[in-house]
Amino acid sequence: MLEKELAVAIDLARAAGERIIEFYEAGFEIEEKVGLNDFREPVTIADREASRIIVEGLAKAFPEDGILSEEELDDIDERISKRRVWIIDPIDGTAGFVNHDGDFAVQIGLAENGIPVLGVVLLPFHNVLDHARLGHGTFSQVGADKPRRVSVSDTTEFADLGLAVSRNHPSNRMQQIIKHFGFTNTIRRGSVGLKVSLIASRSADVYIHPSPRTKFWDTCAPQIILEEAGGKMTDLFGLPLRYDRPDVHNHNGIVASNGPPHGSIINHLKPLLAEFGRIPYKH
Ligand code: IPD
Ligand code: CA
Ligand code: CA
Repeated sequence: MLEKELAVAIDLARAAGERIIEFYEAGFEIEEKVGLNDFREPVTIADREASRIIVEGLAKAFPEDGILSEEELDDIDERISKRRVWIIDPIDGTAGFVNHDGDFAVQIGLAENGIPVLGVVLLPFHNVLDHARLGHGTFSQVGADKPRRVSVSDTTEFADLGLAVSRNHPSNRMQQIIKHFGFTNTIRRGSVGLKVSLIASRSADVYIHPSPRTKFWDTCAPQIILEEAGGKMTDLFGLPLRYDRPDVHNHNGIVASNGPPHGSIINHLKPLLAEFGRIPYKH
């Protein structure tokens, strides 16, 4: 199931990754785009060219499917009418790309009836490619090595959990979360997909993203990669993420974990979310 889809997605991620690395080495202009709550993020020609490579390739291979990419106009009516929708972040972690710290990812996900069924996350600089298909496990390929099946840790005690946190977007709320849980091991890296992949391959155990600013393309491919490795991803209230809504924001934030402590993490977050004045956003 989905063999052709996976092969095409991997080829396109690699083609986009090569183009991104050309810009990374040659240089580029840094532009800015403004999102929810006046949140400003960098964007470059590399984001747009990577998007074109992926979107054109997918449209040719799977003309019946819907496509949503961060760098293209979203035809909402067309997208929500489709059973299958490709969801693409051509560069997740553009901040890492412009800072030349190596932490950025190409993310290609496929959602069927709003649920992720396939995901590819490529780290072009680190040369790691993770991929997953529903029911087939998660595989991680380093360089030209053979892809290796990966699975999450079984750590459950909060004090022992490795917490992946944003290197580019530190926040007071994150500090409060760290204190509230008593986390002692924080892993500061860029890109949502990169951080979630760390959990899939046991280099971290949990990632909490409290802001309402991530969008479908930040989480679709990472979610199936985490789930097929045995982990879990929900919103901050423990509710499932869905990818078939007109509004592409994950308004209720994200909790990604190795699985076993997920319920306790959600319960322990409750009083803090109340303190932050967060109530579940009704889509
Ligand atoms: C995240 C990603 C993403 C954005 C998130 C960020 P980080 O960056 O770059 O594109 O939508 O809000 O937090 O902080 O994980 O590198
Ligand atoms: Ca992103
Ligand atoms: Ca992006």
